[in-house]
Amino acid sequence: MAGSIKLSIKIYMNILNKTVLLNIPKVHDERGSLAVIEKDVVPFEIKRVYYLYDVPSDSFRGGHAHKEQESVVIALSGSFEVVVDDGHTRKRIMLNKPTQGLYIPTYIWREIDNFSSGAVCLVLASTTYNEDEYLRDYEEFKNQLSG
Ligand code: TYD
Repeated sequence: MAGSIKLSIKIYMNILNKTVLLNIPKVHDERGSLAVIEKDVVPFEIKRVYYLYDVPSDSFRGGHAHKEQESVVIALSGSFEVVVDDGHTRKRIMLNKPTQGLYIPTYIWREIDNFSSGAVCLVLASTTYNEDEYLRDYEEFKNQLSG
């Protein structure tokens, strides 16, 4: 019993260590807020930026892991939830602040849902688009982890 509690804590710590919420510095004055992403804010060189918008609230996005791509996911506007899964445990994280970025390393399964009206999901990626480095099948993802 004590052993299994220890094991769960360890796995929980592992996933927390792998997916980190980054703080994006902002400058705020009476004219509004300005957030800046430059070197050191994101732990990789940004090769690509893409964003999801006009997303129906019942949409389900993601549903894959990456062999090479590291990502930072930001709710530029509105909110949505990201499920991250390291093959052992899953965690659901609500993103609703443009000054917060969820860093997702390689080999983490992610799903995105519960989009609010007008939500914009910005993704900073460490690679250019390459379908070959996607793992879109959950069982294949799990197999690659154990192999
Ligand atoms: P998909 O990976 O399903 O998006 P999400 O993970 O957000 O649900 O991608 C949707 C389509 O867009 C798919 O045909 C691949 C294409 N796509 C590109 O052409 N370039 C890109 O940089 C990305 C991220 C996707």
